[in-house]
Amino acid sequence: MKIPWAMPYIGEEELKEVIDTVKSTWVSMGPRVKKFEEMVAEYLGIKHAIAVNSGTAALDVALKALKIGPGDEVIIPAFTYIATANAVVYQHAKPVLADIDPKTFNIDPEDVNEKITKKTKCILPIDYGGQAPDYDALLEIAEDHNLFLLEDGAEALGGEYKGKKTCTFGDLATVSFHAAKLITSVEGGMVFTDDDKLAELCRIIRNQGEDPNRKYYHPVIGHNYRMSDLHAAIGIAQFRRLPEILEKRRKIAERYNEGFKDLDGVELPYVSEHVKHPWFFYPLLVDNRDKIIEYLNSKGIGIRVGWPVPIHKQPAYREILKGEQRYPVAEEVAERIINLPMYHAMTEEEQNYVIETFKEAVNKFCR
Ligand SMILES: Cc1ncc(COP(=O)(O)O)c(C=O)c1O
Repeated sequence: MKIPWAMPYIGEEELKEVIDTVKSTWVSMGPRVKKFEEMVAEYLGIKHAIAVNSGTAALDVALKALKIGPGDEVIIPAFTYIATANAVVYQHAKPVLADIDPKTFNIDPEDVNEKITKKTKCILPIDYGGQAPDYDALLEIAEDHNLFLLEDGAEALGGEYKGKKTCTFGDLATVSFHAAKLITSVEGGMVFTDDDKLAELCRIIRNQGEDPNRKYYHPVIGHNYRMSDLHAAIGIAQFRRLPEILEKRRKIAERYNEGFKDLDGVELPYVSEHVKHPWFFYPLLVDNRDKIIEYLNSKGIGIRVGWPVPIHKQPAYREILKGEQRYPVAEEVAERIINLPMYHAMTEEEQNYVIETFKEAVNKFCR
């Protein structure tokens, strides 16, 4: 049996939207992007959604809209996808790392507190695997120290924290629509905010810094981060599937939990009582991870390690973060984490095969 780690749920509806868009002859940023933005904003209950061509671009736009610049510090988790850190470096600002919570793998508010200096301007948490961090604590720290909070919600569309949807926390929030994400526009992302001024600035930065009321007049340096209507067409069809996708992922997670409940040698995912988990990742902690992956791969099962190397250990960050201290929790999680396959089309038979094969691997290598 061949089991991929992830697979987008794309079909006739996406095809129809794409064909309609091609036939309309408007394929670059236009009415479909606007419609996609409106649909997602309405779902999140937020005033503005600004579509861009990746989750990374969304972070770049958001940090530029907050005017983060040289000399500023932005606190990020030591355990995140490289894009979170890169977006800070794009501003010529300094990413300052905080360690993570050993249960949720999200930024640890206590360590955030420790890392605040006079230069700190922003806290930039992620929602690991879709699960929200302790936003109450993070927002309180941001307020006490007069800092911005930017939520990197790349993995979190469909999640909630204390009844409020993820991708809506802080001054600005972002999401990714990369092909492996909960829903996809192939590549893409959005920035979300309730602030009219920040939203306007985000729209300007996305579109070459052009004045929206004056063509070819550029008050700020921007980028071409526009999403195309072709990508938005896929995003629109995908967005309609979101409830179905979330429900299926919840069921897969539940079946994994059930399948592994008596298995010694692994730590099952912890879900905080305050969250609704959209299950982008199904993460487990194991020892001897490489052996387990080798075994699963040999049986045709695709595995993703998100992420094997924390930011301070990335070669690209050696110079930028030199003299940095260690982040013991991030280091241990990066060494032990493993994310099992999860995709909409996964059948019970396929999942049973993953469960049984994973148990075999754990019994062989984790005892
Ligand atoms: C936490 C996090 N931030 C940012 C990104 C970047 O998104 P994209 O790949 O769409 O640029 C990702 C996606 O992989 C992510 O997981």
